[in-house]
Amino acid sequence: MCGIVGYIGDKNASEVLIKGLKRLEYRGYDSAGLALINGHLDIVKGKGKVTNLESRVNSQNLIGRIGIGHTRWATHGEPNDNNSHPHLSQSGKIAVVHNGIIENYTSLKKKLTEKGREFHSETDTEVIAQLIEEILENGNANCFEKAIQLALKQIVGTYGIAIVNSDNPEKIYVARKGSPLLIGIGENEMFIASDASPIVEYTNKVIYLEDGEMAVVTRDSYEVKTIDDIALTKEVHELAMSLDAIEKAGYPHFMLKEIFEQPEAISDCLRGRLQLETNTIQLGGLVDVMEQLVHAKRLVIAACGTSWHSGMVGEYLFEDLAKIPVEVEYASEFRYRNPLIGEGDVLLVISQSGETADTLAALREAKQKGALVLGICNVVGSTIARETDAGVYTHAGPEIGVASTKAFTTQVVVLAMMAIALGQRRGTLAQDDAKRLIQELNRLPEKIRLILDQNEQIKEMAKLFTYAPNFLYLGRTYNFPVALEGALKLKEISYIHAEGYPAAEMKHGPIALIDEMMPVVVIAATDHTNDKMISNIEEVKARKGRIIAVTNDENSDVKDLSEFFISIPSTEDSLSPLLTVIPLQLLSYYIAVNRGCDVDQPRNLAKSVTVE
Ligand code: G6P
Repeated sequence: MCGIVGYIGDKNASEVLIKGLKRLEYRGYDSAGLALINGHLDIVKGKGKVTNLESRVNSQNLIGRIGIGHTRWATHGEPNDNNSHPHLSQSGKIAVVHNGIIENYTSLKKKLTEKGREFHSETDTEVIAQLIEEILENGNANCFEKAIQLALKQIVGTYGIAIVNSDNPEKIYVARKGSPLLIGIGENEMFIASDASPIVEYTNKVIYLEDGEMAVVTRDSYEVKTIDDIALTKEVHELAMSLDAIEKAGYPHFMLKEIFEQPEAISDCLRGRLQLETNTIQLGGLVDVMEQLVHAKRLVIAACGTSWHSGMVGEYLFEDLAKIPVEVEYASEFRYRNPLIGEGDVLLVISQSGETADTLAALREAKQKGALVLGICNVVGSTIARETDAGVYTHAGPEIGVASTKAFTTQVVVLAMMAIALGQRRGTLAQDDAKRLIQELNRLPEKIRLILDQNEQIKEMAKLFTYAPNFLYLGRTYNFPVALEGALKLKEISYIHAEGYPAAEMKHGPIALIDEMMPVVVIAATDHTNDKMISNIEEVKARKGRIIAVTNDENSDVKDLSEFFISIPSTEDSLSPLLTVIPLQLLSYYIAVNRGCDVDQPRNLAKSVTVE
């Protein structure tokens, strides 16, 4: 959370920074600001989105060839003008933008205040600028870079930071511990960013900073070292991301674009991995660890948010097809309860961004305890992707809408491929069953297109439920996680209270909420629980709840009982979440649009949560 950009070169820095911040806005949008050097430091910042910043910058006609910018997701201090980044040192010469949390900022701030430094915000970030200047002014460092190193050694917590100093007007200083940062290398110009999206239109050459590293960047050079001052030679990576992939392509929102991209995203995820002639699955990223995986005692899946829901589908898949015991954990809980995990266990982390702090912490905990650590990530080169022992990319393309859609379905596709491959290797999945599943995976993009064709019908239905204050989502087995995901989508973007429940568990509480005002979304698409699901629907109807069913084309029993239904093509029970989730994404999207909500940037949320 929080996005950082930096630029040094011949272009108008404020234009590059504003454009970059717009691309990073998914990381937070409480406030935005930038610092430009033009003989002196100019700071423009304030509450609100990047467009507000843009108007302020335009009205001031600022010029500068070097600068840093920030879009904020508030952790310390409410979103207001004072708490916006960049933050300045006392002299006003040093400006800092920061992504992360300085855990010992209270004690540092106290010491600095005792030394006469005045603070102007409630943020943890301001201490970084003040501390660096304090070290410099007290003669404890012979140069600015050294002062940064000494300051970072006193700081406890996480950071991705970019710093400019009007006394060193040709340099940007960056450092990283726990929050992502990369340097884009251009022709006589350099870029800094939290991820590649702000720089992809200028260069495809990037360097990823690792934890404990810093860099001094000029327009034609970069010097990377550890904060202990050991010089490093870094690999230059080539970006594969295209500009088209990070633009809306005529859709009103990224979320809608990403929902409609799912057939293609799934095809990309399957490409080269499904071997239809031999009915096998080839997961290149797992080849070296396959033996260990096949003989694993158990599999622990850790993730957050939507990725945790795909992990739950994974639990059903691995236990059903590969007969491996699985536990699914919220990454944040796993990390802090001294988990029993070690050699012979496998931790599988799932993360779209590959940067989620809790998931990263879970990964490090398990690795340190000797477990094999695998990852399913979307963002290539992300921290989680780099720190896992092995893994599989989802290849969904950039996901920019804060509410996750194509990341979920492609994660489930990877999990299904892993479970099938493991089931085959462990001898727990009959060859005929494997063949059926593999052939069906290949048909899914087409089946999803058929569901997307019902877009208009779902849009109409959404109108009827736009002002419902509560929703209940019910599913069983493979579709219980989809009920959770459907409820989460609605909550996230429309701010309607919604709960997902295992359908039968409804009797133990939520049934008390049901009356004629309550829409109940029933996901009735798994054959082997169909009769039980029908009983649950009857129970809701007996209390006058309004049933919206997601069910198979030929399930006339469920259709007859429902006030509304959305048909999905029949599929294997174990793959049904890949179809049932699509209408729920569309339903929540249209309800949010009808309510006038900011679909791509819902209040209080951020796409990449890089604080614990
Ligand atoms: C945030 C996002 C969610 C996402 C979750 C986990 O809460 O808003 O959409 O599911 O983080 O993110 P990850 O990148 O680890 O999948």
